[in-house]
Amino acid sequence: MSILKNRFQYKKYTIDKKLCYFKPHATKIEKSFSEEIIFGLSLKNKMVQPKFFYDIQGSDLFDKICALSEYYLTRTEIEILNNIREELTITLDSGYRLVELGSGSATKTRIILDVLNKIQSKIEYFPIDISEILTESSEILLDSYSNLYITGIIDTYEGGLRFIEEYDDKKNLIIFLGSSLGNFAEDDAIHFLKQINMTMKRSDLFLIGLDLVKDKKILDKAYDDSQGITSQFNLNVLQRINDDLGGNFDLNKFEHHAFYNQELQRIEMYLKSKSDQLVHISKTNTDVKFNKNELIHTEYSHKYTVPQIKKMMNQCNFKINNMWFDSNQYYCVLLVSKF
Ligand SMILES: C[S@@+](CC[C@H](N)C(=O)[O-])C[C@H]1O[C@@H](n2cnc3c(N)ncnc32)[C@H](O)[C@@H]1O
Repeated sequence: MSILKNRFQYKKYTIDKKLCYFKPHATKIEKSFSEEIIFGLSLKNKMVQPKFFYDIQGSDLFDKICALSEYYLTRTEIEILNNIREELTITLDSGYRLVELGSGSATKTRIILDVLNKIQSKIEYFPIDISEILTESSEILLDSYSNLYITGIIDTYEGGLRFIEEYDDKKNLIIFLGSSLGNFAEDDAIHFLKQINMTMKRSDLFLIGLDLVKDKKILDKAYDDSQGITSQFNLNVLQRINDDLGGNFDLNKFEHHAFYNQELQRIEMYLKSKSDQLVHISKTNTDVKFNKNELIHTEYSHKYTVPQIKKMMNQCNFKINNMWFDSNQYYCVLLVSKF
């Protein structure tokens, strides 16, 4: 493995001629993790950002969530993507590079890669993900596509977008699946969509999957499953703080708490302290006090109506080229371009 320093303040890891990664320096990653965790736990309403769920263990647990019968999102988005293969084949051409925000285990990516495979002799794929799972999923993809060339960016969405913007002038198809936009608070989602819009060139396309408002019972079950996998996923962030920052969180003293807030159209996910307790984080020499029933906010997952989606896209200077739904109207996938 060769390691080169590049102009984007990333380290470049070249695995072979078909695979390389760019990653910020380790000290930058560790510093931002410890600073953001300590800041979030010092607030009156404690919080941990959802991007910190995804260490290797968290990414594996997320894949298990995707396979749960209660978690309709993954299979529904796959249903839509499978149904639009033909239309995408007609819309895309040999000039598009695939850029994916939050690629994870890159399962749905295969549907888009299959489409590109029909029209391109060489496929270029730039996955962007904060999780190291990107390295594993990239190697697995390369086994399936002999004409695939991967440049991974192991960083935040924002870092990855800046990287893409500065990289070159090639046309991009940017995809953002799993309704991950819903994890942003309302204003932040608008800000982030505008940032994507500003990164895009006129010829670029943006494919985004969004979860729709639906029956509360279906939503509650999707984020609090009967096997307790979502609970493990949520609690794992405390284990990560223990492992990476020398915390002494007792995971048995916290519980998963998730529900659909109908008024605000969002799943709210928390970790609830089961007792009064004091947690010590040794690497930062910090003590964090919890009262019984005190909450740590860990995730939102906003749900949208079709008029809200149209308004949001318009507000962010996106023209909707296509909008597709599943048979239950649970979910939608949009293909948009810059106005
Ligand atoms: C909900 S999963 C979705 C994975 C996949 N796209 C899907 O649809 O199943 C979110 C993915 O985005 C990554 N992620 C979450 N927050 C991120 C952030 N702020 N910057 C970069 N990647 C992030 C996670 O590591 C994870 O792989």
